[in-house]
Amino acid sequence: MNLTQLNLTPSYSGAESILQTSDTTRATLISTWYFLAKYPEHAEKILSELRNVDETDANGLALLPHLNGVISETLRLVPPQMTGGGRITGPEGLWVDDIWIPGGTKVTAPKYVISRRKLLSSSGDLLSP
Ligand code: HEM
Repeated sequence: MNLTQLNLTPSYSGAESILQTSDTTRATLISTWYFLAKYPEHAEKILSELRNVDETDANGLALLPHLNGVISETLRLVPPQMTGGGRITGPEGLWVDDIWIPGGTKVTAPKYVISRRKLLSSSGDLLSP
């Protein structure tokens, strides 16, 4: 059975999907190299973690605390999709604290601003893997 028989239509073409996923990955890699060049002590720590594992084993790499800490912090400080990803409120509308958002309103949450708020991350603008 194919997607036509299931009456499902993909929201993106294959080419669009490759562009979307490679663009976020590209941006993440560029930011990671930037932070490793700026803070070589983190590159040194990652290098010493890599000495003890098979670097072709993705499951093993996923367990390395400093490598994953640097990637997570990079994604927090420089999220490739800084904003966007909007959603439409339901017909019943929505209260966010004391702000009323009517039904059918497109809302979005700017990841770049939110992830640097000290309320959510005590390190704010600093890379803290
Ligand atoms: C660092 C790399 C990536 C980042 C930061 C990232 C980020 C995101 C974000 C924020 C969304 C939610 C968009 C939204 O619904 O508003 C999303 C959706 C998605 N991502 Fe990624 N992505 C990355 C890599 C990838 C890769 C490599 C793949 C596939 C190989 C992938 C596949 C998808 C899919 C299938 C969705 C759902 C799309 C949809 O619901 O229409 N992503 N991604």
